[in-house]
Amino acid sequence: MQNIILCGFMGCGKTTVGKILSRMLSWEYLDLDEMIEDEAGKPIPVIFSEDGEQAFRDLEHEVVSSLAKRIRCVVSAGGGTMVYERNRKALSPLDTVVFLDADFESCYSRIKNSNRPLVCKHTKEELETLFNQRYNSYLEAAQMTVDARFQPQTAAEEIAGRLP
Ligand code: S3P
Repeated sequence: MQNIILCGFMGCGKTTVGKILSRMLSWEYLDLDEMIEDEAGKPIPVIFSEDGEQAFRDLEHEVVSSLAKRIRCVVSAGGGTMVYERNRKALSPLDTVVFLDADFESCYSRIKNSNRPLVCKHTKEELETLFNQRYNSYLEAAQMTVDARFQPQTAAEEIAGRLP
């Protein structure tokens, strides 16, 4: 196995679970959103407002592609990363993609007061539609789906126990 990539909707716990899992495995932790911000030299809301979502998606793809050079990393993807086929294809077949499956209300309660551009731009109902639209992409991208409604520690332990 090369890297572990955590995917799922905004607020499903990718960052928290990813940090716990990386400590458990003694692997490096990478946050894709932070890598994009480093690459752009500005925060994600500014990338969206100054350059637009497409520019963000192109940067996201560049950063995902750079993971091919990495090994033994636990990576938190962004909520949209695995929705795009070019990103799924850019991963190594040796990577394990894990879907953190949490219900919409749990995700929404964690993101509703954030400055994420998609949350600022959309109503709760629109975000729920996006959640439903994306659900199958997460399932299809993942080799492992984990129930993420409970404690992040429990999800991290389950992932560690089920790794190939
Ligand atoms: C996005 C999710 C965000 C970030 C960007 C777009 C999305 O990541 O990549 O705001 O399309 O769902 P998180 O899931 O880490 O919030």
